[in-house]
Amino acid sequence: MGKNYKIAVMGGDGTGPEVTAEGVKVLKAAADKFNFSLQLTDFDYGGERYLRTGEVLPENAAEELKKHDAVFLGAIGHPEVKPGVLEKGILLNLRFALDQYINLRPVILYPNVDTPLKDKGPEDINFVVVRENTEGLYAGAGGVLKKGTPDEVAVQESINTRKGVERCIRFAFDYARKRNRKKTVTLCGKTNVLTFAFDLWERAFYEVAEEYPDIKTEYAHVDAICMWMVKNPEWFDVIVTDNMFGDIITDLGAMIQGGMGIAAGGNINPAGVSMFEPIGGSAPKYTGKNVINPLAAIGAAQMMMDHLGETEAAQAIENSIKYVVADKLDSLSAGKMGYGTTEVGDMVAENL
Ligand code: IPM
Ligand code: MN
Repeated sequence: MGKNYKIAVMGGDGTGPEVTAEGVKVLKAAADKFNFSLQLTDFDYGGERYLRTGEVLPENAAEELKKHDAVFLGAIGHPEVKPGVLEKGILLNLRFALDQYINLRPVILYPNVDTPLKDKGPEDINFVVVRENTEGLYAGAGGVLKKGTPDEVAVQESINTRKGVERCIRFAFDYARKRNRKKTVTLCGKTNVLTFAFDLWERAFYEVAEEYPDIKTEYAHVDAICMWMVKNPEWFDVIVTDNMFGDIITDLGAMIQGGMGIAAGGNINPAGVSMFEPIGGSAPKYTGKNVINPLAAIGAAQMMMDHLGETEAAQAIENSIKYVVADKLDSLSAGKMGYGTTEVGDMVAENL
């Protein structure tokens, strides 16, 4: 008998529960086929629970989640809750509390998927972004003075620790080695303006690089990265960057790989509990209509199994996603797939 995995399932808000349900469907099919078992526990953290109880997260949430091998998350964000409350209170809070210091976001264009980039195909768009996930502008440092007056001052500081930066960079180098493609890590920064933060990043980057003589290094400013992700995405293999830049460039990445319907990511603590999620939001307007694309969530489930060491199952899920995308769906957009959410999940599960 294979291993048993304890998975915490947090469907969350909007279409989150619909897409995690399809991810779970595929995980169960993979468990049968690849001889492992799953112990799934649902957690109702999200906007509905907050509106009902007034509590964003119970105090022991992180401790509860730590009892699992991984967390499978749908989406956080509710139209009746002020922006920021749930995002900071749940998503960022858990990323920090579980010390998920890497946000790993593959940008891979599957065959037959439309990219808005003219003359670019799957051979050109195949890289990953390693986003620092616990520091930078997201750390919440700063404050406000004289709020609401003409003299108001707002300061939001980017926190970069040597330890935090270095462990992120090291992960990127290890990942480039494991990926074994171009064996190149590109540091995405802004050394010409953010001369404190990215000086630290740059020094750490080249110091760590010395431990990886087999990996090539590149550097580009974040604005140039945006340009090249559109013009020459084939240049990239592994991009490492801070939290804010990583947030921004991965939405651009999601678009060139076919949109939010397919983009998945993992919040990773290599020594702890990691959390996998589709990178799009809760898409409230599509809730309950069986039209949202579950492939990003299924892709997140695939990353989760890969992370847990079920590489064969992960490969089979990826192959099945590729097959369904290439041979079945009309489009990756909500409502235009030619199939409903549950049918897409069925097809991926059946074709493992
Ligand atoms: C993401 C999201 C979050 C972030 C928001 C919802 C806080 O945009 O996962 O990229 O900025 O990290
Ligand atoms: Mn984002």
